[in-house]
Amino acid sequence: MGEAKGRILIVDDEPSIRELVKLKLTDDGYECDLAEDAERALSMLAQTAYDGILSDVNMPGISGIEMLRRIRLTDEDVAVVIMTGAPDLASAVEAMKLGAHDHLSKPLNLDMLTLTVDRAVEKKRLIVQNREYQRNLESMVHERTKQLNDANGNLRSLFIGSIKALAQALEAKDEYTQGHSARVAEESVRIARYLSLSEPEIRSIWIAGFLHDIGKIGVKESVLNKPGKLDAMEWESVKEHPVLAARILDPIDELRDVIKMVKHHHERFDGGGYPDGLSGSAIPLGARILAVADAYDALTSKRPYREPMTPEQAIQIFKDGSGTQFDPVIVEAFLNSTQQREAGEPVPYPVFESTLMHDAKQPHLQRE
Ligand SMILES: [Fe+2]
Ligand SMILES: [Fe+2]
Repeated sequence: MGEAKGRILIVDDEPSIRELVKLKLTDDGYECDLAEDAERALSMLAQTAYDGILSDVNMPGISGIEMLRRIRLTDEDVAVVIMTGAPDLASAVEAMKLGAHDHLSKPLNLDMLTLTVDRAVEKKRLIVQNREYQRNLESMVHERTKQLNDANGNLRSLFIGSIKALAQALEAKDEYTQGHSARVAEESVRIARYLSLSEPEIRSIWIAGFLHDIGKIGVKESVLNKPGKLDAMEWESVKEHPVLAARILDPIDELRDVIKMVKHHHERFDGGGYPDGLSGSAIPLGARILAVADAYDALTSKRPYREPMTPEQAIQIFKDGSGTQFDPVIVEAFLNSTQQREAGEPVPYPVFESTLMHDAKQPHLQRE
């Protein structure tokens, strides 16, 4: 004999009906248990899992309807079929409202009996299966979302790590620019925040600050570290660095905006800069910001051939160069945010690079 079609609890105070139903359902492949009243049925339900319950309504003690109400408090799935006499139609309706799957009229039609129980048990099975499926689906979606978030987090830190590594690669080669990239990034973010730029713009500017001189990787070390004035040829090779940077970063689609900023950070507001001689608002805003932050750090850093300027001397250069070398709006933002810098106020960094925030600060501290 194959596996049973399900386990059924038959509840009726009439022994002959219990036995008749059991005989028929057992014949048709069910395992059956018997209870003579609702109380007994409830205690059996507490012990054993049933696929279906076939119950009389009018029984001494607890009625079939009340039993169903109690069952539904703890088990919303078990298939319930009630058996009513003809005058009991109101009970049948009530039972259906309480979640009975079907009802049978007495006297029982035995073929209908099996058919009805089959249907009820199958319906219950589908409901449970569907709920399982939904639950699995939810946990699958949860799991996938978590995996994606983790992957995004990994990608983000990989991305930030790569930017940092690139900047460090340059600084390893150009000994006089130790920490320059991080300081330019910091100063640019300070200005960008003062100008209330959006968070994505600030992120791009921060990255551009780190990468603005990356093209110097392609300039000879002997030129970068030359302790005196550069000759014309050498100067031309240094001036290549913004275009070289754009070429290095070109394969990274996510850096479209950053590349424009990097490429044009040596343009002058009056059009006299390089590489393209752009002027005014034709120069990307981020590049105009970088130009000021870059110049400030260069002027106040020690070079082999000169001592660093004091901040006051540097500020005078910006006042003089406002509207010619530099965008006056950016100079003003820079000068106004200078107080924050002097007060040692930390710059609120773009959200995604919290790991780097700390490192970005270090060169600043080591500078003196
Ligand atoms: Fe540069
Ligand atoms: Fe620079």
